[in-house]
Amino acid sequence: MPTRRHVAAGLAALALAPARPPGTRAASSSLPPRPARATPAVRREPLTLVAQERDSPVLGPGRPTSRVWSYGPAGSSAGGPALPILRAEVGEILDVTLENRLSEHTSIHWHGLRLPAAMDGVPYLTQPPVLPGQRFAYSFPLLDTGTYFLHPHCNETGQSGRGLAAVLVVTGDEPPGTEPDADLVVAVKDWRLAADGSFLPFETREGAGRAGTFGTVRGVNGTAGPLEATVPAGGDVRLRLLNLDGTRIVQLGIEGGDAAVIATDGHGVAPFPLDTWRLGPAMRLDVLARAPRAGETLRVVDYGSAEPWTVAILTAAGPDRERPAFAPAGLYAPSVPTADAEGAERRTFTFSAAAGPAPEAEILNGLPPDDPLARVLLDSLCVRDTSLWAINKVAWPSAANPVLPPPLGELVAGRSYVFELVNVTPHPHPIHLHGHAFQVLSSNRRTLPRFTADTVILNPRERVEIAFVAAAGDWMLHCHILEHLDFGMMGYLRVA
Ligand code: C2O
Ligand code: CU
Repeated sequence: MPTRRHVAAGLAALALAPARPPGTRAASSSLPPRPARATPAVRREPLTLVAQERDSPVLGPGRPTSRVWSYGPAGSSAGGPALPILRAEVGEILDVTLENRLSEHTSIHWHGLRLPAAMDGVPYLTQPPVLPGQRFAYSFPLLDTGTYFLHPHCNETGQSGRGLAAVLVVTGDEPPGTEPDADLVVAVKDWRLAADGSFLPFETREGAGRAGTFGTVRGVNGTAGPLEATVPAGGDVRLRLLNLDGTRIVQLGIEGGDAAVIATDGHGVAPFPLDTWRLGPAMRLDVLARAPRAGETLRVVDYGSAEPWTVAILTAAGPDRERPAFAPAGLYAPSVPTADAEGAERRTFTFSAAAGPAPEAEILNGLPPDDPLARVLLDSLCVRDTSLWAINKVAWPSAANPVLPPPLGELVAGRSYVFELVNVTPHPHPIHLHGHAFQVLSSNRRTLPRFTADTVILNPRERVEIAFVAAAGDWMLHCHILEHLDFGMMGYLRVA
């Protein structure tokens, strides 16, 4: 069983960080701004992502395959990784056409990206659903660097549960001369699989009303974990850690070498030593870690479960090199607008269990749930036939407006807001706001570093304050535990 890495060495190294080259500021105070591009944005080669079902060896070689859903590139229908990794440069225009070869409608939500609301990928709110056989073209400039991912936004437990997701790395955040020796994606996501490779039900009544339904097989980068890879001996390795699970909150740490946090949800932070960091569903953490000598291993470990679980085993290889003490330089500063927390308007959002009768009962007007009309109504709301959770006492959807409920709040574009997010349940909820990145200001129960995020964990009975500058559009606000959002803990803000 792994033991907690002693972090004192890492702390000392950071405190004694050598002077930065002229022209850059000390990473421990504030990060340097990203220089503006000299050339106009290049339009990225258009890319087609084909949402399709295919066989994938999730359980591992020699075991039965599983019928996963993935965004294979056009033309690939079998084999290959179930988790594509896309890379693009900040400032480029991303052109991606989604082609739906699934048996149900879908769309692509670009989690964490700031983009025009029409490109945000929420069926019925920002775009029509992409029906089987249809295509939809997404095109928008990449404003921010960092580690992101994309996923569907309807029947999420089913579609994400079958694996529909891709990682998007937006490069351009490393000041010249600070590029790491290796860059690795480590995306955790469990699978609900039986021994024969078939999927188990993604939702359970027990799970939906509590902490969610957990997978049966722990996975990394689209297959059963742990991930095994080699890294350059003595090198500095950028680990892009993502939690793509729909339920599990992991608590990640690094064994076998010094490690510092360099970005949260894609956005640079002044580097600080990584002890452990909790990532709820959809959250990301970029870490710079120093690989050990050849033959030794650097390990990513999840301490969040009853027994620590090794997520990745990275074996150092190649010539050992003499390196100066570990002192991460830091990335460029986030390019997200900084909210004026003092002058901001305050709003409170309370996350609770749903109270009273389920509004869907009224919408359905007593129709039996298998009635075709009832099915159409439920599908058009992307919900189940029961509400278990609510935001400000309102469960998604609302009885008064069955197809599009009124917004949870109306905001003014360009204005600063402080949201007080209050959890009155006994379960943690990772709360996500679409189309923005916010500054996490404070918690009533924890001391937090200042960091930028698009998803923040609310522990039981915790209040967390976040601040951001509102951007125009209709933007979802919801818990990212998929059964919680599918059972009511979801709403949207209208920013005009
Ligand atoms: Cu990944 Cu509505 O979110
Ligand atoms: Cu939740």
